[in-house]
Amino acid sequence: MKELLVATKNQGKVKEFREMFSSYGISVKSLLDFDSSIDIEETGETFEENAAIKAEAMMKELSLPVVADDSGLEVDALNGQPGVYSARYAGIEKDDEKNMQKLLKELEGTDGPERTARFVCAVAVARPGKETFIERGTCEGKIAEAPKGTQGFGYDPLFIPEGSTRTMAEHTSEEKNTISHRHHAIKKIEQWLKTQS
Ligand code: IMP
Repeated sequence: MKELLVATKNQGKVKEFREMFSSYGISVKSLLDFDSSIDIEETGETFEENAAIKAEAMMKELSLPVVADDSGLEVDALNGQPGVYSARYAGIEKDDEKNMQKLLKELEGTDGPERTARFVCAVAVARPGKETFIERGTCEGKIAEAPKGTQGFGYDPLFIPEGSTRTMAEHTSEEKNTISHRHHAIKKIEQWLKTQS
């Protein structure tokens, strides 16, 4: 594999993937470099299914190896919700603020020790003519009583990673990149990559 496409327009994700793959001599392009208007519906019921759907659809469209991820937040007291619906938890407009307010409302009356949760990220690598490879990374933690911090995105202001007293949004991006679900999934992909010729 000499060249690979990261199926995202998110600059932060592109940077993280590029850093990892380029150290293996693989040049990384993203949807920011392509004028692809392909609209992929995330119809899967798991993070893994959605990551594979995205990677395989883009791979077929562009005939290139493609890496795609799907991520979200699982809250134990809500039986794993919002899960694959994390982005659109409070509606299709994908509003981070509304999503956090909805989550806090759903957790009203739920005590500190019962507010455990995890960020989950599945990463899929699809290559023409080969089986898709998928890995999952997680970041365990708990949901705060109120949002705090300005870094990151999504549910970061409400998520306190295990072993920390600060929310993810009070961590620098460098700190987050060493503990995040995405980082753990990418590390597993890296291990796999070492076994590929
Ligand atoms: P996507 O996989 O990038 O589409 O992310 C789905 C949704 O999960 C996001 O819109 C966020 O609401 C949530 N999410 C995923 N990763 C993170 C994270 O690192 N911090 C905060 N929220 C996240």
